[in-house]
Amino acid sequence: MCNQQLFYATALTIPSRPEVFTKGYYNVSPSNDNSTRRNRSSNLEEPFDPLPDREEASTPRTPENKEPVFIAVILVVTIACVAIATSTIFFLLIKLRRQRADGMCTVTSNTDSTSLDIGTEYSDTKAVDGGTPPQSPNLYENSRLNLHLDEVIGRGRFGAVWRAELKTEDEKETTVAVKVFYEFDSTSWNVEKELFNDPALVLKHENIIRFMKAEVRQITYPQPQRQYWLISQYYPGGSLQDYLSENTVTWDEFCRMACSTAKGVAHLHADVIGEDPPMNKYPVAHRDLKSSNVLIKDDGSCVIADFGLALKLDPRASEQELANSGQVGTPRYMPPEALESKINLQNIESFKQIDVYSLSLIIWEIARRCTVLPDVPDYELPYTEQLHGCHPTIDEMRAIVAKRQERPVIPETWQGINGMSIVANTIIECWDEDPEARLTASCIATRFSQFHEWKDGEHLASPGDLHPTTII
Ligand SMILES: Nc1ncnc2c1ncn2[C@@H]1O[C@H](COP(=O)(O)OP(=O)(O)OP(=O)(O)O)[C@@H](O)[C@H]1O
Ligand SMILES: [Mg+2]
Repeated sequence: MCNQQLFYATALTIPSRPEVFTKGYYNVSPSNDNSTRRNRSSNLEEPFDPLPDREEASTPRTPENKEPVFIAVILVVTIACVAIATSTIFFLLIKLRRQRADGMCTVTSNTDSTSLDIGTEYSDTKAVDGGTPPQSPNLYENSRLNLHLDEVIGRGRFGAVWRAELKTEDEKETTVAVKVFYEFDSTSWNVEKELFNDPALVLKHENIIRFMKAEVRQITYPQPQRQYWLISQYYPGGSLQDYLSENTVTWDEFCRMACSTAKGVAHLHADVIGEDPPMNKYPVAHRDLKSSNVLIKDDGSCVIADFGLALKLDPRASEQELANSGQVGTPRYMPPEALESKINLQNIESFKQIDVYSLSLIIWEIARRCTVLPDVPDYELPYTEQLHGCHPTIDEMRAIVAKRQERPVIPETWQGINGMSIVANTIIECWDEDPEARLTASCIATRFSQFHEWKDGEHLASPGDLHPTTII
């Protein structure tokens, strides 16, 4: 009985001293063996000595002293069971969280990056699994707008985006998009809601997603919870990234897409708009510009979407406040200064320069698919050539973009077409290592707006008219 107690005590101390448990016994290294045992045996108040006698330790195994081996096996099996149970619970929790925010239905081909905070070293993989069929939240209660969610059209870091039917009071139906945020991420919902509701930011613009309403909904199934919805205009053309994956673009289409995207960013960045009379507004930094956050309108022009990481650029904000707003983005689209956490927080222009870098990558993505080029390659995300996997981490991007100062490849063939050579130079200026050397979004928009009189990338004007080199 006493022996049994001793063996239990031995087994239970394994985790703290694993190095001395051999063959079911404690072994004490020769250097401290004697002293340890001497000290312990001289202490008469000790209830028992957890270390077996040396003779006992060196005794050949007998049926009785196999017991510790048995206990160790039980212990290992128990630990393994606990580990399996923990991972199963973790997996189920993640699945449940996803179910709450969205649903099964069809998931579009979002293939890449999702946004994250700098400092986290996660990959930027976007999960696109179907998940378990959820319930369409509006089936339940408290609907404000009369909405019926049809299918999931996109998934991202903040939740899922649904195509939905909105029934107006006069019984007319309009298709809208509903972004359903994960319950834990109501902060992102709040950021977007506040920005769109702030009249000082003037986010109403032809090249910015048309926001309609923000709602909090209480649903009862699969369990009582709140859901945070953002309702906006639905753009059937989908995201620019999805569009470019499937389609090439003509010169005209390229100009419309690139120019309108730049116009949207220029409007965000502006602090004065209009001329008659001019109006003051707060500039806004988007901070997560990428081709999956640009949507295509019916006329082929683009709108900027997804303001979950956007930041109101208040010139009175202190450096501390700007720093506290967090350094965020999608690693693939982050400029060197963001990847290295070297943003100049004393100047709000730094945030605009970050957006311009991301914009240059978007323009590169569109231009690569332009049919004026002799060989139009398949669609690729920026830096695909430099990356081994699809989902770069901040570390990987820092090594490529900041340390090695590499950029996406611009083939020689671009120089053979007047328009494309100007596009190439514009892109190169906008992804400059030095943030201050980059063009402004407004300058890019003005430059590209002059292209719409060109045909297939060449200027058709008679001699004496605008020469490509005179372009802004
Ligand atoms: N109004 C809309 N009309 C059509 N499609 C949309 C609309 N809003 C979003 N989508 C689709 O849903 C996708 C994800 O939307 P959004 O970027 O707003 O979500 P997100 O959770 O912020 O994603 P991410 O973290 O990848 O940026 C878009 O890439 C687009 O394909
Ligand atoms: Mg997005």
